[in-house]
Amino acid sequence: MPTIAIDGPAAAGKGTLSRRIAELYGFHHLDTGLTYRATAKALLDGGLPLDDEAVAVEVARNLDLSGLDRAVLSAHEIGEAASKIAVMPAVRRALVEAQRAFALRQPGTVLDGRDIGTVVCPDATVKLFVTASPEVRARRRYDEIIANGGKADYDAVYEDVRRRDERDMGRADSPLRPAENAHLLDTSEMSIEAAFLAAKSIVDAALKQ
Ligand code: DC
Repeated sequence: MPTIAIDGPAAAGKGTLSRRIAELYGFHHLDTGLTYRATAKALLDGGLPLDDEAVAVEVARNLDLSGLDRAVLSAHEIGEAASKIAVMPAVRRALVEAQRAFALRQPGTVLDGRDIGTVVCPDATVKLFVTASPEVRARRRYDEIIANGGKADYDAVYEDVRRRDERDMGRADSPLRPAENAHLLDTSEMSIEAAFLAAKSIVDAALKQ
């Protein structure tokens, strides 16, 4: 059964794209960033340390993948805590195991994250690596915060995007990088609709084979 792997840096638009692609084909969708975020939130809520790998693994192993909700997990401090525990190899192993089990669901799945094409599902039917320049990603994130009635400072959002990139690309275990056979999709100059159509044509072609 088909597995579609969608990777890329923070705020590249891969979440929206993945949801729409999953809807189009009637596949299950897992935003793997939420597995790291939910683990981090459980630690924060429990008043548990963020730097104790054994404690974090225990929480990761007991994670329930149903009902992960980005709205509940979007807070900035949860994202920061998530990127800290995402460098722990044992935490990654526990979450990757759950993600691989998800990838087997019928009739097919879409997983998005940082290491789906390289580590979680190296044999995925099709792999997309979705990017946009840091400036464009910061602008999109800024616009989103403002549209939701929040307050933001563009320079601070930009710095945040850069820092997150460095952490995601610089970590030793499963760093963010395109798989060798991934299709690169740079959405810097594309609308959401154009990016969706470009992704759809790549996936359509792969599923026909
Ligand atoms: O995509 P996001 O911002 O929700 O991800 C939260 C953190 O989890 C981010 O620092 C990167 C990390 N992550 C990861 O290491 N591997 C994944 N497959 C998905 C997310």
